[in-house]
Amino acid sequence: MNDGGQRRYGPLGTTLVIIPTYNEAENIKLIVGRVRSAVPEAHVLVADDNSPDGTGKLADELAADDDHVHVLHRKGKEGLGAAYLAGFHWGLDNGYGVLVEMDADGSHQPEELPRLLTALKGADLVLGSRWVPGGRVVNWPKSREILSRGGSTYSRLLLDVPIRDVTGGFRAFRRETLEGLGMDEVASQGYCFQVDLAWRAVKAGFHVVEVPITFVERELGDSKMSRDIVAEALWRVTSWGVGSRVGKALGRGEKS
Ligand code: GDD
Ligand code: MN
Repeated sequence: MNDGGQRRYGPLGTTLVIIPTYNEAENIKLIVGRVRSAVPEAHVLVADDNSPDGTGKLADELAADDDHVHVLHRKGKEGLGAAYLAGFHWGLDNGYGVLVEMDADGSHQPEELPRLLTALKGADLVLGSRWVPGGRVVNWPKSREILSRGGSTYSRLLLDVPIRDVTGGFRAFRRETLEGLGMDEVASQGYCFQVDLAWRAVKAGFHVVEVPITFVERELGDSKMSRDIVAEALWRVTSWGVGSRVGKALGRGEKS
């Protein structure tokens, strides 16, 4: 991680808030409305995996009424990571300067987004963080908190990333950061996508800043967290960590 204080940062450009959705019919109108009020100049891209509950159609209705709302229809459920990669490509192709990751279920509060964007004026990547002073979680069962804190600590120690909340999904990237972290080599599908991108940003020397957030557990709809998602995260993070340590021991300094 380089010293952001030494760097000069260019203006931010237009923001695109990417919201991946799978069966979020109860949440989609609420969340898009909140983003539009909290950051009126920003655009929204809903990246829907052909949700059986009709989320994509509801998003189309929003887009028909508002030129700041866009929808990316994907053919089926391929995981959070794939949806974000498609959304990032769409945003970069359409000239946006800032690409934001945000959940659809209200866990990430759009009202906190201005704080993330302010921090991005002096950073390459801003992470909304539950596990720094001032950050917190509302209504999570203890079991979920242990999983999340544990996953973050395991990743931080194994990968040597100086980030407290490395699995979080409320983030703001400058376009140059996404262009510079090797997005096309990302294979992670589930939530370990978040660890993957944060680790790549640190390795590429970008200045990463954590901003405290209040994460509010969803009230409507269901979490898509599953045993498979945890398993993918565990084996990928472990193999990255081991690969990187073996590489360093052999003097190559980096995972291949
Ligand atoms: N397009 C698409 N495809 N969207 C998906 C998929 C998918 O396969 N799986 C999940 N999503 C969307 C959900 O619809 C929601 O908008 C967002 O991704 C997060 O999913 P949740 O199921 O609500 O996640 P969570 O609350 O359990 O997990 C939170 O914690 C994780 C670990 O810290 C989120 O903040 C994650 O981003 C975070 O990685
Ligand atoms: Mn959620």
